[in-house]
Amino acid sequence: MKLFDVYPLFDIEPVKAEGSFIWDKNGEKYLDLYGGHAVISIGHSHPHYVKKLTNQFTEIGFYSNSVKISVQEELANKLGKLSGYNDYQLFLCNSGAEANENALKLASFHTGKKNIISFSKSFHGRTSLAVAATDDSKIIAPVNESENVIFLPFNDEMVFEQEMNEEVCAVIVEGIQGVGGVNVPSFSFLKTINKLCEKYNALLILDEVQSGYGRSGKFFAHQHADIQPDLITVAKGMGNGFPVAAVLIHPKVQAKHGMLGTTFGGNYLACAAAIAVLDVIEKEQLIDNAESLGNYLKKLLEGIEGIKEVRGLGLMIGIELEFPCVEIRNDLLFQHKVFTGSSSDKNTLRVLPAMNITKNDLDYFIKAFKMVLSKQLVK
Ligand SMILES: Cc1ncc(COP(=O)(O)O)c(C=O)c1O
Repeated sequence: MKLFDVYPLFDIEPVKAEGSFIWDKNGEKYLDLYGGHAVISIGHSHPHYVKKLTNQFTEIGFYSNSVKISVQEELANKLGKLSGYNDYQLFLCNSGAEANENALKLASFHTGKKNIISFSKSFHGRTSLAVAATDDSKIIAPVNESENVIFLPFNDEMVFEQEMNEEVCAVIVEGIQGVGGVNVPSFSFLKTINKLCEKYNALLILDEVQSGYGRSGKFFAHQHADIQPDLITVAKGMGNGFPVAAVLIHPKVQAKHGMLGTTFGGNYLACAAAIAVLDVIEKEQLIDNAESLGNYLKKLLEGIEGIKEVRGLGLMIGIELEFPCVEIRNDLLFQHKVFTGSSSDKNTLRVLPAMNITKNDLDYFIKAFKMVLSKQLVK
């Protein structure tokens, strides 16, 4: 059987990883500034994470959500404490798209309404409603098209105020747009959305799948704007590579048996991985690290010729060049052995390193980046 050929692949085969480094099958070492789409939060193969998962595996790996699984409660308590959302409820699932699917469903159940507002350049996943709320017509199959989803311009408060109404059940917005090119919502845009959701009895869904878990320099990116969403979705950095995702749910939303469900969500291994990630974030103070190293990197990027704009918060950084970044990204990877990410904006490079990356590693990146940029500029 052949693999279904949906991914354009780099001809690199990683076989080992540690911290911010990856080794390929030829023994070549790479600096990872991308973490496989923002997934690696505490560094590859962190010893505490490996130990916690290994121990859990030797005890019990899986049973379904028909029995008491107390590591789920341990995870909920720890996440509540670290994120500041102690009074919220936690629904565990397996991927970012699934978390958004469930959040949108909950908003509709709770309000009894069905219109959804999403924004230009948004990305919320590839399944049913999550993809319908994603601003990319290429990945929306005819069966996913939904008249219930309305797209409004990102960061445009006036248009939002005009278009918001009592038929809306949910407004979904990323804490910081990732795939769209690292676009930070203005704090007043988020505050306006928050206020009007309350006014019109709609639920505000903050998609923190990419921007959450400390990456922005606060546990959630929306906490910079000091707002309180009704539903918060998380995945990626939550499991540092183990598939785990969740919806944090405001106490006013009442659960009913059978309302949501999943076979694999919240299994023992997923919870062990997620608890280990939170342990390390807390113990190594990685949220503060993300903030200070993000500022350090932004300073190093200041004034480099060829850069049009640097966007983002903490260690979620978009570097918009004055020209397409594809060759820069390839040169970084193949000549200097540095992984970076692209985005749907062809000029914007994404930098999403593990939150315990060092200044030395960032210095190495800047040196390599300046070299590839200057080569490109003389062409
Ligand atoms: C903001 C955001 N939401 C949702 C998703 C979908 O997550 P997953 O690929 O785990 O389904 C992504 C993935 O890139 C994302 O960046």
